[in-house]
Amino acid sequence: MLLLAIESSCDETAAAVLEMSDDSRLVRSSVVASQIETHALYGGVVPEIASRAHAEAITSVVDRAVRDAGISLDDIEAVAVTFAPGLIGSLLVGVTFAKSLAYTLGVPLIPVNHIKAHAAAAYTDNPDLTAPYLALIVSGGHTSLYDVRDYTDFVEIGASRDDAAGEAFDKIGRVLGLPYPGGAAMDRLATKGMESPVSIKFPSPAIPGDNLDFSFSGLKTAALNYIHTECQRMGLPDKGILPEEKRAEIAAAFTTTVVEGICQKLRLALETTNAKRLVMAGGVAANSHLRRAVEKVVKDFDCQLYMPPISLCGDNAVMVGAQGYYEYRSGVRAGIDLNAYASDEAAEEAEIRFRRAADV
Ligand code: KG4
Ligand code: ZN
Repeated sequence: MLLLAIESSCDETAAAVLEMSDDSRLVRSSVVASQIETHALYGGVVPEIASRAHAEAITSVVDRAVRDAGISLDDIEAVAVTFAPGLIGSLLVGVTFAKSLAYTLGVPLIPVNHIKAHAAAAYTDNPDLTAPYLALIVSGGHTSLYDVRDYTDFVEIGASRDDAAGEAFDKIGRVLGLPYPGGAAMDRLATKGMESPVSIKFPSPAIPGDNLDFSFSGLKTAALNYIHTECQRMGLPDKGILPEEKRAEIAAAFTTTVVEGICQKLRLALETTNAKRLVMAGGVAANSHLRRAVEKVVKDFDCQLYMPPISLCGDNAVMVGAQGYYEYRSGVRAGIDLNAYASDEAAEEAEIRFRRAADV
């Protein structure tokens, strides 16, 4: 079936056309309009600016996705849209556009959870990837482990109790003078720092014990304190930028601590679930150090690793279409009263309602 998918949960306006069936997962087009340059001026996403930018971009982004796919609007058989979690004003732009389109075309409207969609980003490049599997979602808003029992049935078995890994990368990147969002630049700076010995030690984000939870706030504070102390020691002004070598060493130490913490809980999750397949996805799954480390971890287990290509780690609409297909197949539909929800909890409650309605 031909699905049009829309994503607008944060600072990317995206649309894609997918041709999905039980034995093929084809991307016909994918368009992503990023607002990064606008938000970089403020050092982070400004929600109201994000909503307005979505409103401006969405029609041309969808138009372009339809044209690139070589189809017309009448060929579309369903519209899938991210309805949660994310920035409420941003989500509402995509949801409202999607419901208007589905209503006008007279096709089903499929609500998609952004976190599940991140995992589904691995489907199109990996035709052999099937549920069940273990999912590690590392993004700007989440650092979570899920026991994915079926394509639409995600059970959270571990999560960050405070900040997400991506948030921590962005914060430390900003204080080190890197442009927003700091993740990709931190990745490169860490590579440089690892060329020399690294003596800085930061506290692990892995919460002690046999749980599968993380905490990034202690690590973030320790890194910020270290940077401020070094600035003072070197006689730099407040918000001063440390010399390149020091910044690289900090990025290396920080990245190593994040990667080791995530891998520690990943090992435990693989031991306890005995999963045969692991999907790592989300913006931070693009991190080269994390990718290499996770590749090593799975070698010690009888487990196959699947990751989306780098281009599908960050927010995009291909992942929404891929998840949308499985939601559609399980009977999930949204009415034209579909709402958007900011939190994971509200998303979960809404999904219970969708599923209950699908069973009737
Ligand atoms: O999944 P995503 O696009 O948005 C959310 O759903 O949150 O993730 C964005 C996050 C940002 O924090 C960004 O800095 C981070 O992913 N990121 C990276 C890398 N590329 C993007 N973090 C570490 N290393 C990277 N190479
Ligand atoms: Zn995301």
